[in-house]
Amino acid sequence: MTGREQLARELTAARDRTLRLVDFDDAELGRQYHPLMSPLVWDLAHIGQQEELWLLRDGNPDRPGMLAPEVERLYDAFVHPRAGRADLPLLPPTDARAYCRTVRDKALDVLDALPDDGSDPGAAFNFGLVISHENQHDETMLQALNLRVGAPLLDAGAPLPAGRAGVAGTSVLVPGGAFVLGVDAATEPHSLDNERPAHVVDVPSFRIGRVPVTNGEWQQFLDDGGYDEPRWWSRAGWAHRVQAGLRAPQFWNPDGTRIRFGHVEAIPADEPVQHVTYFEAEAYAAWAGARLPTEVEWEKACAWDPALGARRRYPWGASEPTAHLANLGGDALRPAPVGAYPAGASAYGAEQMLGDVWEWTTSPLRAWPGFTPMIYERYSQPFFDGDYKVLRGGSWAVAANILRPSFRNWDHPIRRQIFAGVRLAWSVEEGQA
Ligand code: AVJ
Ligand code: FE
Repeated sequence: MTGREQLARELTAARDRTLRLVDFDDAELGRQYHPLMSPLVWDLAHIGQQEELWLLRDGNPDRPGMLAPEVERLYDAFVHPRAGRADLPLLPPTDARAYCRTVRDKALDVLDALPDDGSDPGAAFNFGLVISHENQHDETMLQALNLRVGAPLLDAGAPLPAGRAGVAGTSVLVPGGAFVLGVDAATEPHSLDNERPAHVVDVPSFRIGRVPVTNGEWQQFLDDGGYDEPRWWSRAGWAHRVQAGLRAPQFWNPDGTRIRFGHVEAIPADEPVQHVTYFEAEAYAAWAGARLPTEVEWEKACAWDPALGARRRYPWGASEPTAHLANLGGDALRPAPVGAYPAGASAYGAEQMLGDVWEWTTSPLRAWPGFTPMIYERYSQPFFDGDYKVLRGGSWAVAANILRPSFRNWDHPIRRQIFAGVRLAWSVEEGQA
């Protein structure tokens, strides 16, 4: 179980990150950049509201909180869809900041009173949940800022390691056999409900991309008329491609540049493609003579160590993520070129499984057998069996401390403002492996 001091550091790191993403004037924070995104000031107060609920009120909304009930309701994501949030009587930024600070001060007092001997794992879990929640909203705020039109508010991002030649378009073999999918509280105490429980799954042999699909590869799909050829697209995918007028990844300009956080720049050929829908990913894979992986295949390629017959904590082993192993944390504001992290390879040789871009899988979000909801019962469960595809691996915007090979994200197959890209897979006939 993570100790008190570590949890306090992670709470502080998340808050520092949040405050950097709302370090703009009040008018800016109240703007709705896009109907798919909330105004930044909504995310800010919602972060505080969730922290108050899970850490100060035992998750019970009937226990009185610091906000009037009608104000608190403004921050219920199930009550108010994103498109309408700028028109709500939201807390002004000064009040939202003060509320978050008051909640945090009290939460740190609760943390101080927590036994540090692991005797209250439930309470420690709730802190991890709140740390994950805040960091996930930081990624959402980055999606909003990326959609903002006008002179950049953020700089172009921190430097990244160079890529290496010869890895784009290559694949690695994952021989068939059983492995352990998912995790338990015993090994991953901060894993969320949808990652549990660990269970054995048999997977036929397959190949998977050594690295994600690059912008340069995607350009070839464009040049080959991929967006005009219904045969590469699923029926639903083509209908969406026509209706939405998709012609290239979001933020690509016809002149070979793209817009990223307001910066206009050449599209780097060796960088993983981002901002494609599931449907585009599916069409690209068909054009390339491949398919998308299932999330089960993805997790095996990421976490299984066939020599040990056990899971690794991270693709590369047990050590914590560093800037040498994966592009995480959000400072880069973009994915790293393919081949940038040879030391981060999984047991099977797949690279950049964590960080850089979320990777679309063919799997609809569903519960693992034996699923039990966590204190935040509506985190996962309302989204099971809906129209959601699972994304794996985290993007450059994900905080390293909330990510695991078992972490599951999800979105509608038509979404592409998220930092999502593509890793290909191929079935392999047994005997050919
Ligand atoms: C897991 C990223 C799909 O943003 O809808 C934040 C995370 N849940 N607050 C989302 C979440 C509640 C969730 N995703
Ligand atoms: Fe939330």
